[in-house]
Amino acid sequence: MIQTGTTPRGVTGEQAASRWVRAMFGRVAARYDLLNHVLSFNLDKRWRSRAVERIAPVLARPGAAVLDLCCGTGDVLLEMQRRRGEASIFGSDFCHPMLAEAARKARAGRFANPLFEADALVLPLRDNSLDLITCAFGFRNLANYQEGLREILRVLKPGGGAAILEFSQPTNRAFGALYGVFSTRVLPWVGGMVSGSREDYSYLPESIRKFPGAEDLASAMRHAGFSRVEFERMTGGAVALHLGWK
Ligand SMILES: C[S@@+](CC[C@H](N)C(=O)[O-])C[C@H]1O[C@@H](n2cnc3c(N)ncnc32)[C@H](O)[C@@H]1O
Repeated sequence: MIQTGTTPRGVTGEQAASRWVRAMFGRVAARYDLLNHVLSFNLDKRWRSRAVERIAPVLARPGAAVLDLCCGTGDVLLEMQRRRGEASIFGSDFCHPMLAEAARKARAGRFANPLFEADALVLPLRDNSLDLITCAFGFRNLANYQEGLREILRVLKPGGGAAILEFSQPTNRAFGALYGVFSTRVLPWVGGMVSGSREDYSYLPESIRKFPGAEDLASAMRHAGFSRVEFERMTGGAVALHLGWK
């Protein structure tokens, strides 16, 4: 069993955690993309594009309905739109400033702009309505992981899939130690300098440290009812892509 959900420091209860997360992403939205690329040495682009590559067969299903959950500034959404066959691809997030960035990028790339504001734990979507849900670096921030998985399963059609790309725990000790120093010292410092808030960029390594390892997330997905659950580690296990099917 995995921990209940994200627990930002000094915050008690799921409602408060959720409000804190939304406000934090609102504060960093304008610098979010830049910081992502800088702090990951541009690896974030490769992680997302690998995830989209893995779910390409679903995007190719005629008439597939796809949601990029917690889409933030829309990088996965836009990558899927670039590659889509006949799929309809939507993005949702509960943070308005992040969605505004996604909308701006969609306009600049001349993509349709199918975005809506919604909490991932209570999606305004019918049961069994989607072929695919992607969630990149959003799942870790949910106030309740089991409810998040239940909600994803609820809206997926039978045969539909979920792709969860998330930070994870490095498997190699030496790399893990190096990564630990980077994420607890360098990352909050650089993030704080660029975004103006060191506290916000301290949440990032803290939430990663508290998030379950790949095996645990896979068993939580199986426990929630997903079948054929598998995962792929990337960059020494710092990131993992989980796939599961309804
Ligand atoms: C780290 S960002 C990831 C954004 C994007 N998917 C990416 O790959 O860069 C996490 C996003 O999850 C969103 N988020 C967190 N909890 C959420 C929830 N309960 N409902 C909807 N969005 C949520 C945040 O607003 C934020 O935009």
